[in-house]
Amino acid sequence: MIIEPVIKGNVAKNCHPLGLKAALQKQIDHVKNAPTIHGAKKALVIGASSGYGIASRIALAFGGRADTIGVSFEKGPNDKGLGTAGWYNNIYFREAAEAEGLLAKNFVGDAFSDAMRQEVIDHIRTAFGGKIDLLVYSLASGVRTAPDGTTYRSTLGVSGKPLTGSSFDLEAQVLGEQTLQPVTAEQQRETIKVMGGEDWQLWIDQLQAAGVLAKGFKTVAYSYIGPQSTYPLYKDGSLGAAKEHLHHTADVLDTQLRALDGEAYVSVCKALVTKASAFIPIFPLYITLLYRVMKSKNMHETCIEQAHRLMFSRLYPALGAVVTDADRLIRIDDWELRADVQDEVEALRAQITPDNFKEVGDFSGYLEEFHALNGFGLTNVDYSAEVSLEQLLQLKP
Ligand code: NAI
Repeated sequence: MIIEPVIKGNVAKNCHPLGLKAALQKQIDHVKNAPTIHGAKKALVIGASSGYGIASRIALAFGGRADTIGVSFEKGPNDKGLGTAGWYNNIYFREAAEAEGLLAKNFVGDAFSDAMRQEVIDHIRTAFGGKIDLLVYSLASGVRTAPDGTTYRSTLGVSGKPLTGSSFDLEAQVLGEQTLQPVTAEQQRETIKVMGGEDWQLWIDQLQAAGVLAKGFKTVAYSYIGPQSTYPLYKDGSLGAAKEHLHHTADVLDTQLRALDGEAYVSVCKALVTKASAFIPIFPLYITLLYRVMKSKNMHETCIEQAHRLMFSRLYPALGAVVTDADRLIRIDDWELRADVQDEVEALRAQITPDNFKEVGDFSGYLEEFHALNGFGLTNVDYSAEVSLEQLLQLKP
């Protein structure tokens, strides 16, 4: 079969497995050409199959020779479809890591469940050397079923008044307006249940109780704060409240892990094109403006540059302790938040019209990264070549 990209709204409906392999290799090559990370040797990545999670796993494995376990929720191919991009990322990551003599185990299923935690613990004990020295928490989900069986759904919403802003649709490629409604107290509570720190805490509690955390163990979860212009949309909205809970959880875990000389952190990352961020109304337009400015200053980073910088210069710096700000947050959003960058972003924003938004912002760069997430648009892939479903069906996580 020949596979062409299909986008509905801001969601990719298919992926190109061979393109995904090439995109993964590009990230591996980046890390191999970057300075060596002297960090974790046994890492568990929750949310390992795409975006920040796969980039972290690649940085740790190919930049620091870490054995890794990845947990993700992905779908394989069947007679109705090709499955999800993350499915193939997991497989091609494992193949590449094993080819270099590294352990790489994929668990595909629900990271929010106790059953998954137990499977991972059993694997660490029986096949992974007994202990891990890093847990990266990189989940992005709209729904969580907690261990007591209650299902919570997150809501993208604001606090106070409705927020209307310019927003584009990748499918139609037109700029329109979108309005985010204020969330109710119940919606806010559920969003915190899904995207806050409760599940991260459960992972650490159960791994610690099982005795599989090494002395000096570290854990890091990913967050976003953004510039003031996006506060109404993100930081002051429902997602921001969930992230605040995550930040608080890091402090609780940091205290809890002292018994092991362990540490827990939140890393505040840069706004980037991922499956999750494309879904947030209004936000992608900001990303196109940010990309335009950061590229012009030679400061553009994608997930892999961010993940490498985090591991190399913040979490495992050559000399001394983990690098944080005064609030104990690791900041790799520092370049995004520079005053000169944000001033230029706002100057561009003032010029935006429905006719020029593709030229004023880096719309083509956005689209290119979005396609690459799904394996399309890679220069070294022959997209006219037949892809065999039979062969894809034989690939196992
Ligand atoms: P993504 O959508 O690319 O990755 C999400 C990961 O979570 C995938 O591996 C997916 O399989 C996994 N997942 C979702 N539900 C699951 C479940 N029930 N069980 C197991 N795995 C599950 O998202 P992205 O953007 O990489 O987000 C990761 C983290 O980074 C999030 O906490 C996000 O808030 C944060 N972040 C993202 C930024 C961005 O601009 N994309 C900026 C700053 C932080």
